[in-house]
Amino acid sequence: MAKTKVSQDTGDLVLNRISKYYGDFCAVDDLSLTIPDGSFFALLGPSGCGKTTTLRMIAGLEEPTAGTISIGDTDITTQKSYRRNVNTVFQNYALFPHLSIFENIAFGLRRRGIKDVKEEVEKALNLVELGHLSERKPAQLSGGQQQRIAVARAIVNRPEVLLLDEPLGALDLKLRRQMQIELKRIQLEVGITFIHVTHDQEEAMTMADTIAVMNQGKIEQMGSATELYEAPKTAFVANFLGQCNLIKVKVQSRSGGKVAVSAKGHTFEIPESRVSSSNDALLLGVRPEKLRLDDKGVNSIKECVVTDRSFVGTSTQYLVRTPWDLELVVFEQNDEGLHDLRVGDKVSLEWDSEHTFGLDGAQDVNAGADLDDDE
Ligand SMILES: Nc1ncnc2c1ncn2[C@@H]1O[C@H](COP(=O)(O)OP(=O)(O)O)[C@@H](O)[C@H]1O
Ligand SMILES: [Mg+2]
Repeated sequence: MAKTKVSQDTGDLVLNRISKYYGDFCAVDDLSLTIPDGSFFALLGPSGCGKTTTLRMIAGLEEPTAGTISIGDTDITTQKSYRRNVNTVFQNYALFPHLSIFENIAFGLRRRGIKDVKEEVEKALNLVELGHLSERKPAQLSGGQQQRIAVARAIVNRPEVLLLDEPLGALDLKLRRQMQIELKRIQLEVGITFIHVTHDQEEAMTMADTIAVMNQGKIEQMGSATELYEAPKTAFVANFLGQCNLIKVKVQSRSGGKVAVSAKGHTFEIPESRVSSSNDALLLGVRPEKLRLDDKGVNSIKECVVTDRSFVGTSTQYLVRTPWDLELVVFEQNDEGLHDLRVGDKVSLEWDSEHTFGLDGAQDVNAGADLDDDE
């Protein structure tokens, strides 16, 4: 087999104003991203938002309609895929069924004309803790083991960037959780850039240093799991990362670092630094676990009614209807302070200003909610 020279670029991966059209349909829309060298990066979004298309452009399997891609100082936009220092792990593993595990992992090395592969293959196998299975065929391994072999096969080539396209999608929940921890360990050990594509928000939050939330070919927001969860900038991000209450409010005043807002005669406060819009119509956002079944605070709603209650072990989750018929979700931790309310009970709600955020009120309150995340 011919020797393939792979470029040895290192540095940040930069997507600069990338678009991809299929005919008139825009799959990726003027997207710009910088993925720091050596980071664990997640591209998170619902099915069809353009994640795979983005990865395929990074891998060189698809050419952008516009924009450039570079690693460090090298523009790789039109570089052939086999010259890029990039490897991909797919959901369906794509192992060679007729080759042993050892030969599956050795494949990329042999292709590059490397003769003495034993040490490198063993290192990669040990990294995924499957050294004892090297003589088996892929069909003789479990799904989780095959997935780890697929990772070993990619890593043995020492790519600058490893692309993982929903690699855990075929595994059951328990195994998926185990593999998330495994992949994180492997990334720390090898230190190469991982770009992990998933539609599962919990998976992205568990694994990644930085998450880019993608919607309809665009990046909605990028940040750490905590930033995205505690301070979302759009209704889509608020709803897609966990559950969120969004209340339509009007601005009354902005002063002293506080924004006073009102809804149906109730007034609330949001720290100005947590309001991402200058409009008068806002959505006040507050997460279910930040609501308390009390009425002492600055922000409270009295005369609400419990409309649903489900006990889920660590917490009790209530649906509570406000006097103006808005249903809010409340999670109450199961500890001494438990209220143990029933459907039909009257209750008040309160929360702290610093746990709220203000979004542009022109957005759809349900954007990003109830998207089927099991595809
Ligand atoms: N080769 C193609 N031709 C036409 N449309 C495509 C092609 N590949 C992807 N698409 C469309 O582009 C959109 C984004 O697809 P994809 O990147 O696979 O999304 P994701 O991976 O986020 O689920 C989808 O609407 C999909 O149908
Ligand atoms: Mg996809």
